Amino acid sequence: MNHNHAGSSILRGVGSYAPARKLDNLELSQRVETSDEWITTRTGIKERRIAGDSESTSDLAVEASRRAIADAGLCVEDVDLVIVATITPDMAFPSTACLLQHKLGIPKVACFDLEAACSGFLYALDVADGMLSSGRYQCALVVGAEKLSTIMDWEDRTTCVLFGDGAGATVLAREGDGAEMLGFQCGADGSNPSLLQQPAGGSLLPASNETIESRGHYLKMNGREIFKSAVRVMERAAIELLERHGIDKNELSHVIPHQANARIVESLSQRLEIPMERFYCNLHKYGNTSAASIPLALDEAYKSSTFQKGELGLLVAFGAGLTWSAALVRF
Ligand code: UT7
Repeated sequence: MNHNHAGSSILRGVGSYAPARKLDNLELSQRVETSDEWITTRTGIKERRIAGDSESTSDLAVEASRRAIADAGLCVEDVDLVIVATITPDMAFPSTACLLQHKLGIPKVACFDLEAACSGFLYALDVADGMLSSGRYQCALVVGAEKLSTIMDWEDRTTCVLFGDGAGATVLAREGDGAEMLGFQCGADGSNPSLLQQPAGGSLLPASNETIESRGHYLKMNGREIFKSAVRVMERAAIELLERHGIDKNELSHVIPHQANARIVESLSQRLEIPMERFYCNLHKYGNTSAASIPLALDEAYKSSTFQKGELGLLVAFGAGLTWSAALVRF
């Protein structure tokens, strides 16, 4: 396929990387009061990957990016924009995108991080698409990468069983062969930040003995409330995006949702009245990898070769903020 429409970029390559170390439910149940049965029935997760001590978020991003650039048939010199979506940057600054640029040997182009939690990757695609359509950039490396194991409270069974480490990357370009990005829908509601947050370590609660004692540097979540909001906001984002493009939900061949919980995906499937067979799920293998979840799933779905040229796909996510995002793709 060769698409060249102004304002709609081409998804030329996808790649992903998951650290080798697997942590399964049985092993987790030896650390906290939980069971394989509880985790499986409540979430669908069976295992997650944990990055090594010396492996940072940018290292995970490097591997995923190399694969995406190779998949696109391009080289690092072709990249003129780098955006990394993450809530677990290597450090507060410089950005993980700058560290990634250096590690990959990408030329001295624009690099920055974007934070919209689990919605971050699709936000980053939307931003990259807009920058490409300005004509000032030709080829963007858009990455979602997380080392969430570093912000897990390994004594809190209500959160530590849910998340994992990983990275996914895409190459988005103005020209070339690939899937066509048709449109995006991003939104946020910042009225209730405490539903899902890492409270300490920023300007509001800088690191101190107290923030360490109160375990404020770990992810805190009201799971039940997030569950309800997640289904609602993803449904709305999907419907609004489809309506804006005059596409009927029955025309969608593939839905790649944020991989948080199999029950959330099933609820979304029911509410959108799109059968589960069209939803791609790999959360049983990786848990919730936040910004990495969609590109990691996209890469695996794409390479499982059930995609026919011209088929329509919906990518849809929600996350802390609350944020939500959706994208329409013609594969
Ligand atoms: O990217 C966005 C990230 N966030 C999410 O995706 C989270 C969305 N929420 C969820 O996925 C679900 O709400 C959870 C999986 C987090 C929890 O499932 P739930 O069905 O909403 O369970 P619950 O919070 O209502 O807890 C039910 C029970 C509680 O015990 P009691 O109060 O009924 O006695 C919990 O203490 O399950 C207990 N529980 C556990 N038991 C065994 C909570 N976590 C565990 C656990 N193992 N790991």
